[in-house]
Amino acid sequence: MVMAVVFAVLLATTKGVESRKAWRENAEGEYLEYCVISCRAKSASLTDFGGVGDGTTSNTKAFQEAITYLSQYESEGGSQLVVPPGKWITGSFNLTSHFTLHLHKDAVLVASQDESEWPVIEPLPSYGRGRDNTEGGRFISLIFGTNLTDVVITDSCTNTRIEDCYIVSGDDCIAVKSGWDEYGIAFRMPTKQLVIRRLTCISPFSAVIALGSEMSGGIQVVRAEDIVAINSESGVRIKTAVGRGGFVKDIYVRGMTMKTMKWAFWMTGNYGCHADNGYDPYALPVIQNINHHEMAAENVTMAAELEGIPGDPFTGICKSNVTITLAKNVKKLPWNCTDVARISSRVVPQPCEALADQVPGSVEACNFPEESLPIDNFQVQVCSYRRKPWR
Ligand SMILES: *[C@@H]1O[C@H](CO)[C@@H](O)[C@H](O)[C@H]1NC(C)=O
Ligand SMILES: *[C@@H]1O[C@H](CO)[C@@H](O)[C@H](O)[C@H]1NC(C)=O
Ligand SMILES: *[C@@H]1O[C@H](CO)[C@@H](O)[C@H](O)[C@H]1NC(C)=O
Ligand SMILES: *[C@@H]1O[C@H](CO)[C@@H](O)[C@H](O)[C@H]1NC(C)=O
Ligand SMILES: *[C@@H]1O[C@H](CO)[C@@H](O)[C@H](O)[C@H]1NC(C)=O
Repeated sequence: MVMAVVFAVLLATTKGVESRKAWRENAEGEYLEYCVISCRAKSASLTDFGGVGDGTTSNTKAFQEAITYLSQYESEGGSQLVVPPGKWITGSFNLTSHFTLHLHKDAVLVASQDESEWPVIEPLPSYGRGRDNTEGGRFISLIFGTNLTDVVITDSCTNTRIEDCYIVSGDDCIAVKSGWDEYGIAFRMPTKQLVIRRLTCISPFSAVIALGSEMSGGIQVVRAEDIVAINSESGVRIKTAVGRGGFVKDIYVRGMTMKTMKWAFWMTGNYGCHADNGYDPYALPVIQNINHHEMAAENVTMAAELEGIPGDPFTGICKSNVTITLAKNVKKLPWNCTDVARISSRVVPQPCEALADQVPGSVEACNFPEESLPIDNFQVQVCSYRRKPWR
């Protein structure tokens, strides 16, 4: 899940730059002008290492060899690996520091279906075990790295910007996490100051942006704006449980359009699923100051399912200027709220009593903060790369 975010950010570098018209490349991926934090001293193409983008050849070795070779430039100006147009089948590969993975706009990474290409590695200290492996270890991610510096994400998730992404996912489009139960509480590393902008998401079985359920290190200051969701299960979703501890605080969402959704809003304090039996049943998560402003949703089966924790209510839940059009023939109650509290304003259809309209008619409520975060103003440099022709 953590790597899903990393991957999205890498994609964001190419797409984000495109939108500012400072990113160009030729159809073959042999010439490239691009924006990054700093220009890289060495660039190479995956094809230099025997990569074949034909949709059938495995490129695991090519990726691993390319990055092993490029890692020697870590302390000598950094490096970049260019993946030209094609369908590149690969198992897991590890990144290196001061490194850019550039995917051509017509390059598709296809995860290998060969299980032997997915080794089980040590669990994250903040997790105890992998979510998909009860044996103790965890399956390695498609794109993996530890202790890296300057790989677009420069600090493993403080000051991260994900922008101009189009994601179709069988799970959440973006999943924000920070550790699992007693392991995450002990590790104490929150995900903070995350900015998500101009995201289009199709997530038929999950959320557009999921916060949790492993949030035991805390998630604080997430700002999401200009989001389009199509045929998705839920919008910005909070998942947590007794035993998680931690917090999800100061979340602001503005400008979201949703079409064909199961739930426009969904929060769960009953997500269950623990790393092991060592979790603390008294470790209650704090869910506070969650704001949604300017949202329009059409063809929605249920407006909201908001389920806090008995004795530990979710507070400061604010929704303003929200219009939800329910699907035809929907009979269920549009809002279902338990153990949630505080204001809402200008919401159609009328929300549950717990979110009573305490600021009638106010358009100020739930407003996005005006002051910018450091990552908002981060400037990137323009660099170029030309692949040498074969001799
Ligand atoms: C990638 O890193 C993991 C964890 O450090 C390690 O177990 C694995 O062997 C590495 N893979 C390669 C191909 O170097
Ligand atoms: C990562 O860095 C920490 C702190 O420097 C170190 O303790 C740990 O062994 C490193 N992990 C890996 C996989 O290199
Ligand atoms: C509304 O949503 C349902 C699924 O809940 C879908 O089958 C239908 O095509 C949608 N209608 C429109 C007009 O998008
Ligand atoms: C309400 O939100 C819509 C977008 O959903 C926006 O076009 C409109 O300007 C907003 N109105 C106010 C009063 O903020
Ligand atoms: C409302 O939510 C509660 C849990 O908070 C659940 O038990 C109940 O089934 C829900 N009702 C409907 C109609 O979805």
